[in-house]
Amino acid sequence: MSTATEPTTLMKQLVGKAAALRVQSGMIVGLGTGSTTAYAIQYIGERLKSGDLKDIKGIPTSFQSVVLAKELGIPLTTLDEVDRIDIAIDGADEVDPNKNLIKGGGAAHTREKIVDSLAEQFIVVVDASKLVDKLGSTFLLPVEVLPFALTPVMRALEKLGGKPQLRMGVKKAGPVITDQGNFVIDVKFEAIDNPAELEKTLNNIPGVLENGLFVGLTDLVLVGEIKDGQPTVREI
Ligand code: A5P
Repeated sequence: MSTATEPTTLMKQLVGKAAALRVQSGMIVGLGTGSTTAYAIQYIGERLKSGDLKDIKGIPTSFQSVVLAKELGIPLTTLDEVDRIDIAIDGADEVDPNKNLIKGGGAAHTREKIVDSLAEQFIVVVDASKLVDKLGSTFLLPVEVLPFALTPVMRALEKLGGKPQLRMGVKKAGPVITDQGNFVIDVKFEAIDNPAELEKTLNNIPGVLENGLFVGLTDLVLVGEIKDGQPTVREI
């Protein structure tokens, strides 16, 4: 993991640690995906190792979080084996003033939405660059789609006023394949005025598994900021 001292890394480390400190012994913890959450998972692992934290179980939201948790010795469980998730910690690509989110930059939003929505407390960890006035202003909206339905879903997204593009792999020829074996379409919408409505409309297109709009789920946002040259955490 990066130990660089560049501001964004410092902010991510700080919010990751702040979120990890909210985990208590005995909790079932949703383990999100992405570079910011990776720091939270790292600090949870350190607290377990030092004995500061005991008897927790993680529910991973991706292969990334499975691999990381295993490396750090964090015991894992599944949704079939628990009756609750006490806390979930996850990153975001955009956060609006109502704490609604765009997620899915890592193509993990389908499992993330399942886990984050089940959590008693859902904590979002971001650096200040993720705060926007309106969702969709800086980031394309990810939509996971069954490969079988790719073309009709692309057409349906265009009909809704979006500009869809199939997400392509990096260091992998062809499209990105999600942890579920599906494709991701990234969609540019000029303005997302009503995220709740768009979330439902998109999920109603046959062949769409899930989209990256997370509406009304967030309990707390921890924002990493640099103030007077010092990295600090602000709570929203
Ligand atoms: C994974 O699919 C995403 O939802 C991530 O949580 C999101 O992209 C934030 O990732 P970073 O913390 O790496 O920016």
